[in-house]
Amino acid sequence: MSALSTAGLMGMWHFGLPTPAVVGAIILLLLGLAYRTVCLLGVPISAEDSGNTLKLWNGLSKGHHIKEQVREKDGSAVVIEPLHDFDWKTVEPRQFRHFKRIYHITMGKEGPRIQYLKDATLLTMAAGLQSDTPSDLIAIDKDYLDRVTHRRHLIEKHGSGVHGCLPGGVAAVNELYTYLTSEYLPTRFPTIFQLSDDGTQFINNAAGKTWPTAPPEDPAAALRVLGETVEEDMFLLHEMPEGHKSYAFVCCFPSGFDPSTKVGKLLKDIHAPVPSYDKIGASMERFFARTEVGKSVKRLNWAIQTHGELYNSGSNHMTNEEALDTPQDADINIDESYYRVELQTLTRLPRTRALLFSFKTYLYPLRQIKEEGLGSELADAVDGLKAGNAPGTWVYKGAARWSERVCEYLRA
Ligand code: HEM
Repeated sequence: MSALSTAGLMGMWHFGLPTPAVVGAIILLLLGLAYRTVCLLGVPISAEDSGNTLKLWNGLSKGHHIKEQVREKDGSAVVIEPLHDFDWKTVEPRQFRHFKRIYHITMGKEGPRIQYLKDATLLTMAAGLQSDTPSDLIAIDKDYLDRVTHRRHLIEKHGSGVHGCLPGGVAAVNELYTYLTSEYLPTRFPTIFQLSDDGTQFINNAAGKTWPTAPPEDPAAALRVLGETVEEDMFLLHEMPEGHKSYAFVCCFPSGFDPSTKVGKLLKDIHAPVPSYDKIGASMERFFARTEVGKSVKRLNWAIQTHGELYNSGSNHMTNEEALDTPQDADINIDESYYRVELQTLTRLPRTRALLFSFKTYLYPLRQIKEEGLGSELADAVDGLKAGNAPGTWVYKGAARWSERVCEYLRA
């Protein structure tokens, strides 16, 4: 509309029609165009809203009126709710207990409800994918400093084994870096992360580190900063004609796989060792393609491990061949055995349209599960790994090595 109407108004001015109204209309039009440009470029503007600073990713505004407009226009508004009085040192890690009697590999939003403890309250969550709020992309608790310090050491030790980027992933890495350092983290956790007055520096008060908000030229350097700033492991994917492909990653807490072998691969190849993945592969690709900006999802994944390591590139998983040669281990140290949970999220980045797959890892001692009275339920869930639609999961998760001792303990 704009070009035509502007020309019309200019014409009216030439022919001596009331000038103040025309000038006003032109100014309004120009302001409208400027606003639209800001939205399209995704330039962030912070907004004060009822005393709370709300930030909208890719199109921000001062009032509900414009916020709604942005939502209607491209559906890409993302509100980040600040946690103003957040004291990370006092926040307990979230407690998930989501094992089920029978394991089914599924993408579905429907399915059995699962339980988790939050602030000592037992809550439930759907077993498959569940919608998530963009504010919850990153979780921080009292383990934060230990975890990110450990991640820095893992990055130093394993280098390109835990982070990397293909040329096709550079723009997505830059977008993610800018979003987390300039917008998400300082807005969501203002007591931990701040921006310098000129906005060029990102300050992490908990870790005592300062980084530029402009992404480093080397995407690997950007991934290293992200890897030691948040606990979440991250993969960036782009949709290709043959399926979604991983282009960049920083993954310090892999559970039984080598993350560097997953970059440049399609989802179906990434999941090659996962039993019965073919049951969900096609619907997963379709679901990923439909995922919109601001409509994140989450899911939970669990495992048992008989050691306390967060970084595990090999031993948590097992192949059928390995299982044939591996007897049950009678010497398992229960005090070093854990119920391991990944809280996984999927988020669409608005500018590059890349998909961010991220997950935070939780380790709960088996003793704790038993003390909560959930021992036999977890033991049943271990047996149930071979009872559902993906029976190979029992071997894949390594139960052929540890299930006898672990289940005996859990049921005693
Ligand atoms: C949200 C949809 C997804 C579903 C339903 C899903 C499902 C699964 C399942 C059931 C497993 C077996 C894990 C276990 O039981 O220990 C698995 C493993 C894995 N998934 Fe996914 N996944 C999803 C998305 C992704 C994405 C986007 C990536 C991106 C890289 C990914 C990377 C992996 C990797 C690396 C493994 C380990 C594979 C191995 O053992 O080598 N997943 N996934």
